[in-house]
Amino acid sequence: MNALARLLDERSVLVCVGTGGVGKTTTAAALAMAAARRGRRVCVLTIDPARRLSDAMGLDESVLGNEPRRVELPRARDDGAGHGELWAVMLDTATTFDALIATYAPTPQQQQTILTNGFYRNIADSMSGAHEYMAMEKLYELHADERFDLVVVDTPPTTNAIDFLEAPDRIRRFLDHRLYSVLVTPTGGLARVANAAARTFLRSVARVVGASVVDDAIEFFAAFDGMEEGFRARAAAVERLLRAEGTAFVAVATPRPDVVRDVLAFSGLLRGTGIDTDAVVVNRVHPRFTAAMPAGLEDPSLAPFTTVLAQSIAITEAEEATLAPLHAVLDVTVVRVPLLDADVHDLAGLDALGPILLAEV
Ligand SMILES: Nc1ncnc2c1ncn2[C@@H]1O[C@H](COP(=O)(O)OP(=O)(O)OP(=O)(O)O)[C@@H](O)[C@H]1O
Ligand SMILES: [Mg+2]
Repeated sequence: MNALARLLDERSVLVCVGTGGVGKTTTAAALAMAAARRGRRVCVLTIDPARRLSDAMGLDESVLGNEPRRVELPRARDDGAGHGELWAVMLDTATTFDALIATYAPTPQQQQTILTNGFYRNIADSMSGAHEYMAMEKLYELHADERFDLVVVDTPPTTNAIDFLEAPDRIRRFLDHRLYSVLVTPTGGLARVANAAARTFLRSVARVVGASVVDDAIEFFAAFDGMEEGFRARAAAVERLLRAEGTAFVAVATPRPDVVRDVLAFSGLLRGTGIDTDAVVVNRVHPRFTAAMPAGLEDPSLAPFTTVLAQSIAITEAEEATLAPLHAVLDVTVVRVPLLDADVHDLAGLDALGPILLAEV
């Protein structure tokens, strides 16, 4: 059994990371499908705003949303595989944020005040980091959902993927932020009335952003009163989930020097936060026909073929040289997926990737 197959069988969360355009969404969907074929109940979560997941699965764009949808697997293959389940979710940041507010708001009135508050809507829709944090929140929700054994996460490009891992910490920093602590006293009440320093601070903020923004912010923090603990606890739980034994990270790459450098840099960042990269998928590798030029092809009429073969051998050797640092630095299984002659745009295409991803290397 190859290392990826073992991850699919044994882990409960699998996060696919990698530079833009290398094939993360395709790989995440194909791994999810392969796990379903191996009998697991799998949910694939995409944070990719480009709707590539629907496209890769051959689904209409409107089918995928913030709630898991069951995707019917094509007829079971001859080997009897195909008894698991495949589900898919496309993250909707604002809806997920609203659901989190609903979870922690002590009263329906408080919930309503927050959801209609201008400052909150601004955070929920556009605050940098809100997107990443809600992705982690969604992952946490799906992980806790009894319907699924495994959640496969597709992520945006690497530069953002590290934001993901930092998202729980960012929420904590927000709660520790000066603005927050100026507005909300340790006992939970608003500092507005009691604290002269806070008044001065708010007046200067209002001059820059406008009084109505400050009023909105004050209303938001007043309504947020009592919810802070819930948010902190949840951020800590999400962080633990990312570092849990059951969570695996799979880096997706292509045989290009810059991409290989990115993978190594990102794996280094992960390592720095105590997370190991569990496997690497190298996508779009040129097929290897033969290790060396066979003898007996000297006939001049074969020249066009020997030229192509020589080029192919040269490409393969160059690609292998490019990938060598991966093997040198990361002590993990590296699975190669060939460059296909067409886009993957339906379940049959994803299904075909399964045996390639899970082949012995
Ligand atoms: N092995 C392959 N051979 C040929 N085409 C491929 C292969 N893998 C993926 N593709 C195609 O490459 C394109 C990009 O793939 P995909 O959307 O999975 O990348 P991504 O890493 O998720 O991109 P992004 O970072 O933009 O989210 C898609 O059109 C996909 O069908
Ligand atoms: Mg993608």
